[in-house]
Parts: sequence; structure tokens; C-alpha cells
Amino acid sequence: KKLSLSISAVAQNVTTPEAQDALKRALAKRAVGLVKSGMVVGLGTGSTASLATEELGRLIKKGKLKDVVAVGANYQSRVLARQYGVKTVDLNDVNSIDIAFDGVDEVDFKKNLLKGGGAAHTMQKVVDSVAKECVILADQSKVVLQLGSTFPVPVEVLPPAISPVLRRLVTLGGVPEIRSALRKDGPVITDLGNMIVDVSFPNGIPDPADLEKSINMIPGVVENGIVSGIATSVLVAIQDGDNVTVL
Ligand code: 5RP
Repeated sequence: KKLSLSISAVAQNVTTPEAQDALKRALAKRAVGLVKSGMVVGLGTGSTASLATEELGRLIKKGKLKDVVAVGANYQSRVLARQYGVKTVDLNDVNSIDIAFDGVDEVDFKKNLLKGGGAAHTMQKVVDSVAKECVILADQSKVVLQLGSTFPVPVEVLPPAISPVLRRLVTLGGVPEIRSALRKDGPVITDLGNMIVDVSFPNGIPDPADLEKSINMIPGVVENGIVSGIATSVLVAIQDGDNVTVL
């Protein structure tokens, strides 16, 4: 039953922004329900992960969770955590993370992920990989049969290496485009001071793990948004008439 429901959810657009928000809130609630007092929690970035941070703060304020600390993957998640009353610690000051929550731009049925819509995938991958449990929160619009179906692959690149990296991405069959900043005349610059190149693969991405490695082998590439072998579970929220089902 689970599988057929999931298949019917493949890349289904959610009818309204309000409905999508309801799916994301349901995911956040379900995910934070997995946290226990005393845990170290990894916080991802984006609207879904932010709702999980908000929910975590709510349970801490209510006294339902005690002695929880969080490792934020980047500036946005650390600022939000403090705003919601979640104590943050530095990644380098913890030996491990018990559970991490993160959003996703695309997820396939083998738990391969495509991340980086918010230009934050490099440190998200680090935090997610350190966590004993990495729980991915996907509303129905994020589920795909093959990665690359609805989003290009974001690649974080050292700015002085941009031209040779663009040429090498073309040799991998990609069509690269430097991401430019909205409302600004220039490229997006990440928290880590690098540029983002969005690469579409018109022939598809049949082997995500292989492409992930090949892109990361290019000198000048910091990290790309394909994430294979890190997610331990994926929660999928689907619109079911007026109801929300989390699988
Ligand atoms: C940012 C990410 C986000 O997790 C991804 O873009 C999903 O965002 P949202 O939850 O807002 O849909 O990878 O780099």
C-alpha cells in the first residue's frame, strides 16, 4: 500500500501554496516527534527544515524536550534556531549528531537526493553525513523516478576556477549555467564564499552516485547537490483531498 501511494505521489504538484505549507508542517511535526531529550540534532536549510526547527523550539519551550542542542548546517539554520529558542553548538564541538532533518529538491525511490536549491548543500551534506539518522522531509512534489527530472544539479565552485570547471561539466554531458542573484547584478555567493553552477543533464541521471563522484573529482569543485547513501529515511507528505498523509 505504501509503495503504490508513493508512486501515485511522484512529482505531483501541490494545488496551492497553503496546501504545500500544510504538507511541510505535517512533515516537520512527524520528524520532530522522533527527537528525544538529550539528543544532538542536525538542522538543514530551506522552508521545510525551518518548520522543523520551529517545531523543535516549540517542544523545548513547552518543556516536552530537555537538554536538546542543535548543529545548524549554515547561517540561516543557526539564526532560526536561536530565534526559536533552540540552543546551537558548533559541529566541531560534538562527536556525533543523533538525528538530522533536512529538506530536499528531489528524491528518488532509492533515497538518492538532489539538494542545493538554496545554495546550501555543501555544509548540509557534511551535517547530514555525520548524523546517525538522517531524515529527509519531502512533500509530494519532490518525489521523482529519476534525479534531474525537475531540477538541475547545483555545483558549488571556487570562483577563480569557474571557467575550467564549466568546461569539464560540459564533458560530463551537462549544460551548466552560473546561478545569478535575484535583485542583484551578479552571481549567487554561498555562505562559504563560492559560486553556484546549475547543471542540467538532458540525457538524464541514470546513476546518481557515479555522477556525484565524477563532478566532485573536477578540481575547483567544492561539492555538488547529488546526495547518495546518506539519507536513512524519507518522510513523504501527500495531499489526500483535504487531509495530509505522511508516509
Ligand atoms: C537548500 C536545500 C533545501 O533543503 C531544498 O532546496 C528544499 O527546500 P524547501 O524545503 O524550501 O522546499 O537543499 O540548499
